[in-house]
Amino acid sequence: MELKKIQEYVKNQLSDKRYYHSKCVMERSRELAEKYGADIKIAEKIGIAHDVAKEMSEEEKLKYVKDNNIEIDDIERENSSLLHAKIGKDIAIKQFEFTENMGQAIANHTTGNKDMDIYSKILFIADRTSKDRNFEDLEHLNEIANKNIDEAVLYILDKKIEIQIRKRASIHVNGIIARNYMLNLINKN
Ligand SMILES: [Fe+2]
Ligand SMILES: [Fe+2]
Repeated sequence: MELKKIQEYVKNQLSDKRYYHSKCVMERSRELAEKYGADIKIAEKIGIAHDVAKEMSEEEKLKYVKDNNIEIDDIERENSSLLHAKIGKDIAIKQFEFTENMGQAIANHTTGNKDMDIYSKILFIADRTSKDRNFEDLEHLNEIANKNIDEAVLYILDKKIEIQIRKRASIHVNGIIARNYMLNLINKN
């Protein structure tokens, strides 16, 4: 589906603030795709679509996963905000004609995962460094992202895990798997 149509669909699902975030992630994804030689149109589509399920209620999300036979684990059930990633992937494949890999980038955007391809990495970084974000380490992270995409993904994974520890909250196993995978990848290169 063409970008404009995806934008319209997403705009209808989200508040103004979240739609603005999605547009900022789309722009940042475009920059990263240019920098790292990925397909710009694909990166933009993933960026605009990634939070399409973010504003569904907990009830709606649980109903969606049931109706669409999406497997979820205990941590996702307990922390339903994680579910918008898996549901977003499903919507993008069914409604926006995304390929499995494009959809997987959306599924990976909350916790990270093993085998993250260039589009998964771009979205993961864009979601954290889009211009609507206000993290104090933004400049530092952007410096890393401009030099080495894998180091930037590892940095974000570490931060996410640190936050969960500080909050005394559960850590999704995919975050750990992603971190080990990225560490391995960086050490090999
Ligand atoms: Fe998200
Ligand atoms: Fe997001």
